[in-house]
Amino acid sequence: MARSKTYDKPSKTKSRTFTSLNSKKNTSFQMPVNYILCVICIGIAAWFSYKGYLETRVNTPYNIDKLVIKSGLDSPDRYWGTYRPGTYFGLKTRDPHSLVTGLMWYFPHLLQQNRNRLRHWCEQGDGLDRYSWLEHDGRTFGIQEIVDNSAILTTSFVKRPGGRYGGEWTVRINVSSQHHDRDGEEISLIFYTAIEDNTKGNIKASIGNDEQITGVKGSTKGLGSFDLRIIPIKGEVQEHSFLSAIAPGLNLLKETILHNFKLASQKGSKKRRIVLAGEQLPITPEGKRLDPNFIATQVTGKIPFEIEIAYESNSYTDKLDKLSGSNFDTLLEMHRSTFNTKFEQIFKLRSKGYSESDISFAKMALSNMIGSIGYFYGNAQVQSIYTKGPVPYWKAPLYTAVPSRSFFPRGFLWDEGFHGLLISSWDLEIELDIINHWFDLMNVEGWIPREMILGQEALAKVPQEFVTQVNTNANPPTFFLTLNFLIQHKHDEMLREHFEFLDKIYPRLQAWFNWFNTTQQGNLPSTYRWRGRDGITNRELNPKTLTSGLDDYPRASHPSEDERHIDLRCWIAFASNVMSQITEILHHSNKRYSETFDYLSDNQLLNQLHWSPSTQAYADYGLHTNKVKLERPSIPSHTPPQVQPEKVRVVLEDPILKYVDTSFGYVSLFPFILQIIEPTSSQLDKILDDLKNPNLLWTKFGLRSLAKTSPLYMKYNTEHDAPYWRGAIWMNLNYLTVRATHYYSKVDGPYQPKAKKIYNELRQNLIQNVIKQYNISGYIWENYGDNQGDGKGSHPFTGWTSLVVLLMAEIY
Ligand SMILES: *[C@@H]1O[C@H](CO)[C@@H](O)[C@H](O)[C@H]1NC(C)=O
Ligand SMILES: *[C@@H]1O[C@H](CO)[C@@H](O)[C@H](O)[C@H]1NC(C)=O
Ligand SMILES: *[C@@H]1O[C@H](CO)[C@@H](O)[C@H](O)[C@H]1NC(C)=O
Repeated sequence: MARSKTYDKPSKTKSRTFTSLNSKKNTSFQMPVNYILCVICIGIAAWFSYKGYLETRVNTPYNIDKLVIKSGLDSPDRYWGTYRPGTYFGLKTRDPHSLVTGLMWYFPHLLQQNRNRLRHWCEQGDGLDRYSWLEHDGRTFGIQEIVDNSAILTTSFVKRPGGRYGGEWTVRINVSSQHHDRDGEEISLIFYTAIEDNTKGNIKASIGNDEQITGVKGSTKGLGSFDLRIIPIKGEVQEHSFLSAIAPGLNLLKETILHNFKLASQKGSKKRRIVLAGEQLPITPEGKRLDPNFIATQVTGKIPFEIEIAYESNSYTDKLDKLSGSNFDTLLEMHRSTFNTKFEQIFKLRSKGYSESDISFAKMALSNMIGSIGYFYGNAQVQSIYTKGPVPYWKAPLYTAVPSRSFFPRGFLWDEGFHGLLISSWDLEIELDIINHWFDLMNVEGWIPREMILGQEALAKVPQEFVTQVNTNANPPTFFLTLNFLIQHKHDEMLREHFEFLDKIYPRLQAWFNWFNTTQQGNLPSTYRWRGRDGITNRELNPKTLTSGLDDYPRASHPSEDERHIDLRCWIAFASNVMSQITEILHHSNKRYSETFDYLSDNQLLNQLHWSPSTQAYADYGLHTNKVKLERPSIPSHTPPQVQPEKVRVVLEDPILKYVDTSFGYVSLFPFILQIIEPTSSQLDKILDDLKNPNLLWTKFGLRSLAKTSPLYMKYNTEHDAPYWRGAIWMNLNYLTVRATHYYSKVDGPYQPKAKKIYNELRQNLIQNVIKQYNISGYIWENYGDNQGDGKGSHPFTGWTSLVVLLMAEIY
């Protein structure tokens, strides 16, 4: 995945040529000097304005009519939500500047040993046993289980419509312990409310008679006036304190809490405890106390223990009862039952004979995809060859799922196309909204940046040098997968109810397609090449291709303009097919997409350009040699040992133009997985045989990314850069492979039985392993080891690995 682990240099090649100003006509006849000067001045002025025009293209929006026309309160039932996937628990609204609420917790005796034991943002380093949404419908409720060293925190919330500001909600936080083994131990829960910098409004702590905080009152432009009450409902409360302060930013809430802890004994008790410092608001020279933007309530109790937080909108005046206690239970049960019925209707796992535990697993996987949908706002940072450095993109919102709550809590372009398959199966309206948000991020060139780091919280998770997105660089256009899926599975619904969606997005799809089709062209007709590879480095064993999404998957050893990339060609062929279908649905007479698809899917031409005669497999083509290795440069004998230079690549043989034969793996499968090869072709037969070969890709746990026989199988790319797409098993491409075997087992052709057999086995292996590893580790993982099937990389990774639900349901 293009995880910005390495900064991508702007491509040195100009992908576009501009004509016009370069050709100034010769003036042969005599002209007055001042006339000539004037012409020169105009010329210079025109040049500068043209240069200015080039500079601003990268951050000029595609067109002024946005696709997202309903935002904020226009969708009241999705106004409030768990749109902060990077925190363990928090609610906010779908507004650029929102009231933000969230949870932190700690065990007092552990915090005294280590301040890092205060939990807030999802961090792998916290080492939680597991945490996941068990149920979440993306609209009305969610139940999450967090297990921290055998203490179980259940965070559930229910929303209820009413009033003019998106209704109200109540949260329950319930702490118990797995085998009652931590019963009696103290835990401190901190629930906070904060307002972002540019939110118009205020919050203040409500203090009861006994000087205890009872909640928060406030009023903002987006919410009107509201009350938030915090009520311990079960168990012994040991301590109750609060903080009312000014936090320097949403990215520094945890620090603000840590800064305002103190040890104190409370009324009626000698024991000194960690408490929050109360009101900590600066007073101006004029004697005015500043308003807080951050109010936190701490409740310390003994496990088992439970608190309730009720958010009430004061615009909801005619209600009959409060959403708490047994009303909460009843409403929660009602939503759960709707969820469970809908889950079975869509995925039919019970009727397929899955066990209760498998079904719970699948609900959890789906719920994490849905529960990780976030709402971000801010500006990305972009760069083109015409800008002197990074420049800000326009400020924009992004409603999107995220690959991983801990490691990648932000939007990723190519991941999102895969997420769309599962999300649209569950809730089409949510998915269309997500697609609209992404396509509103398209610039005038037709480019969409591939990683979206919007807002303080998102930015705080990414080192500055990785933030900039470069406009020559692509990323697989996987939203065409989603669109294809919608056309296949929701055809009538799309025609009936979402014709307008297709109609409105169509010009942007054309621009996007055209961007790929023009900027990523190869030297020969019908060939394509990922830009953004570093052709100068001597650090990398094989220069990465982050743009392809498959980061370190080995390509030609020496990046050059003669390269042609098989996966990119197939993506564009696939995209042209989807475009041609949408063109037809919209009754446009344009035949260009179907012609392009016919051209790019012509198997004979494909085979001429990409079928390697020597290995009988599809491959990239380029300037290549296998004879490369990493070596430490020899150093003069007097060099102190601590300044060892880093290993560099040594090339032992001149590269030549040829097929990149030695990298059999996911990339070789693209004509198959994007279903471009003919069902009758002998290439299909060969690919199916190769798929089953355990020396190449086949394992009991799914298909590994790179053949065991490849010289770069499981090789480090630099001394420090561990293999990523060089052997591990990844779900997204396995899903596409299963989908393809399903397709080739259904369409007429001589290899149907072979495809069918692989379909059954591969699907089963993947499902079994992901569930088994979840059982063992408590997590769904970014990828899986090809020897033991063990979870690897970041976790929880409930982005595309959650496609396992669609495998179980056989929805492709
Ligand atoms: C917490 O929730 C669980 C599951 O809903 C329930 O069994 C348990 O009784 C609750 N604990 C407390 C302290 O209420
Ligand atoms: C894509 O590019 C090729 C090569 O330039 C061109 O022939 C084709 O018409 C383009 N397709 C579309 C739909 O623009
Ligand atoms: C996972 O655990 C459940 C419950 O213990 C068990 O029933 C199931 O067979 C396990 N599944 C796998 C694939 O290990």
